Amino acid sequence: MKSISFFVAIILSSVQVYAFVDGNGPIVGGISNAPPDNYHIVVPTMLALEREMDGKMNSPFVHRVNKIKDLKTQVVAGIRYYVKFDFGQTSCLKNATNAVGIAQCNDVTKIHKCEADIWEQAWIDKRDLLNFKCN
Ligand SMILES: *[C@@H]1O[C@H](CO)[C@@H](O)[C@H](O)[C@H]1NC(C)=O
Repeated sequence: MKSISFFVAIILSSVQVYAFVDGNGPIVGGISNAPPDNYHIVVPTMLALEREMDGKMNSPFVHRVNKIKDLKTQVVAGIRYYVKFDFGQTSCLKNATNAVGIAQCNDVTKIHKCEADIWEQAWIDKRDLLNFKCN
């Protein structure tokens, strides 16, 4: 319990969200808009989920996270990220690209505007893609 409080304190201080403790229940904070200078904080999370999100794209082509366009954060027994981003379609074919080869797929041929809702508990290396959609 002590270590969880410790990490929550780190998250609170690093993203500066307002939070309150509701009795014995989870810590739930308000949703905060991250300033563009802080969009980089979600990049490792997005890259960790990139292949999972690409698996949901109904396309034979590999997609890469291209640019974070908007980020909201919320403290919920960890942190919840609401991310709007450009998912770049490349010319690499999924069925012909292995995990190592993905790094070479950087030629964006088309931009898809996507949104991901992620719940992360970084201290146990856990991140769930709660919602994902592209228009
Ligand atoms: C990979 O997918 C493409 C596009 O769907 C298809 O034309 C091609 O035959 C596939 N290649 C292999 C090796 O399955």
